[in-house]
Amino acid sequence: MPRLTRSCRQILHIAIVVTCIFLTGSVLYNHTSLFRSRSDQHWTSLSKLSPVDTYKDVIQTYWRNNSKVVLLQKEGDAYLPQKKDEEKNNHDPLRRGVTYWERESRDASAKIGNQTSDVKVILMRDFPYYYEIKPGSQVFQGCPGVRSCTVATDSNVPADLVILFSINSNSRNYMNPPPRPANQMWAYFAVEAPPHSYSSVLGSPAWQLYFNWTMTYRLDSDIRFGYGIVVTKSSDSGSSDHKTYDESALMKKIRGKSKMAAIFVSNCNDNAQRLSFLKLLKKAVPGVDVYGTCGSLKCDKGSNSCHEMLERDYFFYLAFENSHCTDYVTEKAFLTLKYDVVPVVRGGANYSSLVPPMSVIDTSAFQSILDLGRYLQYLMDNPTEYLRYLRWKKDYVIVEPQPLPWCELCSKVHEAYKQRPQAYVNVNSWWVDGTCRQANDLHLYGQF
Ligand SMILES: *[C@@H]1O[C@H](CO)[C@@H](O)[C@H](O)[C@H]1NC(C)=O
Ligand SMILES: *[C@@H]1O[C@H](CO)[C@@H](O)[C@H](O)[C@H]1NC(C)=O
Ligand SMILES: *[C@@H]1O[C@H](CO)[C@@H](O)[C@H](O)[C@H]1NC(C)=O
Ligand SMILES: *[C@@H]1O[C@H](CO)[C@@H](O)[C@H](O)[C@H]1NC(C)=O
Repeated sequence: MPRLTRSCRQILHIAIVVTCIFLTGSVLYNHTSLFRSRSDQHWTSLSKLSPVDTYKDVIQTYWRNNSKVVLLQKEGDAYLPQKKDEEKNNHDPLRRGVTYWERESRDASAKIGNQTSDVKVILMRDFPYYYEIKPGSQVFQGCPGVRSCTVATDSNVPADLVILFSINSNSRNYMNPPPRPANQMWAYFAVEAPPHSYSSVLGSPAWQLYFNWTMTYRLDSDIRFGYGIVVTKSSDSGSSDHKTYDESALMKKIRGKSKMAAIFVSNCNDNAQRLSFLKLLKKAVPGVDVYGTCGSLKCDKGSNSCHEMLERDYFFYLAFENSHCTDYVTEKAFLTLKYDVVPVVRGGANYSSLVPPMSVIDTSAFQSILDLGRYLQYLMDNPTEYLRYLRWKKDYVIVEPQPLPWCELCSKVHEAYKQRPQAYVNVNSWWVDGTCRQANDLHLYGQF
């Protein structure tokens, strides 16, 4: 069966390659004629169009004589660039039958939607494929504020803001910072905990005062981007994740639960003493089930059915982080909060500033592991007490994973030079120094 699937995929692959060769040919042809028309009279009249024309999308941005040029597709034109054209080695999305308008940022602004302003280019530099970053301005289409922005992934484009996926800068290519045009902003991006995400290269003197902004899960980042966010229901009318709060249904669900706590552990290193903590907890109370490589139980963590099983059978999920760092709370906690299971959290964050009130049980609030175990047992035996940890669902929803905050980025880059300029002296020490600690809570708990 898997073999059949693989050969099907191969046939599909060949078909895609043939189509691409064909399309590249026609695009190149069209491209040439478009460039020719730029130098003639016809072109001059185009660029004098009134700036209130509306545009559907930013097709491309490039440098010409040190100024940024944006190529726009007019509203109402039928074709949008196809996904194929955005792939590497084929950045040119020009298509037959579309009118393109070219404007230099210095003298012309573009109206996208109902707004007129200079188009800002946000370059996502060295982002891994799984972020599925698509060049173009589509991601800004629903933005309530400023939306004249476009996303780029090609590091040669004239960007107004470069967001660097920091861990990928830990290489020779970054020994010296790339030349930086006047007014270009740089943002440092990291989502893993510092022990797994710092780039020593960026700590070197050459990079001092280079980054203007930080974009991380930390609450003191200039742009906060974490694993999940809490949204109040009243401010979030459009959420698709909108279950109405039904207490009697919840109560019924609670009465159907029979097992105490589950945890997934796939990394068997005793990072942050997770396994040692578990061992002591299992000694204190029965009913702690360990799933994954380091346990005896199996469940496909990526599947919904696994989380549905958790919700049906278990009272608690042990959301133990493997690094204890400031504000570091991962999907272990946020994903659990989306289900009707209470997370027992252990990590380096002050959870009350990151999750809804009365939504988690923090191990650090207990004098001993035995006390923690007894409290979990008490909640199991008293469903109405347990219910208090789910009541926040009346007022809040969790958005997990958090989408990249495109609208915020766009308005921030438009405002950048209206505020006082700022830069981090050493972004590496901002990220690393004093932000993580050893998990050293076991000695407190060992005595029972
Ligand atoms: C670039 O600038 C030079 C000198 O100012 C000028 O001669 C040339 O035409 C410009 N090229 C383009 C493509 O605008
Ligand atoms: C522009 O569009 C936004 C969002 O669609 C809307 O909230 C705003 O009122 C519009 N502004 C004008 C001047 O029409
Ligand atoms: C944790 O955060 C809450 C809410 O933001 C705050 O009231 C509390 O003082 C913080 N606790 C610590 C130890 O910083
Ligand atoms: C960004 O950082 C650079 C280099 O330190 C600085 O010259 C520039 O003024 C900063 N821009 C803003 C908007 O903070």
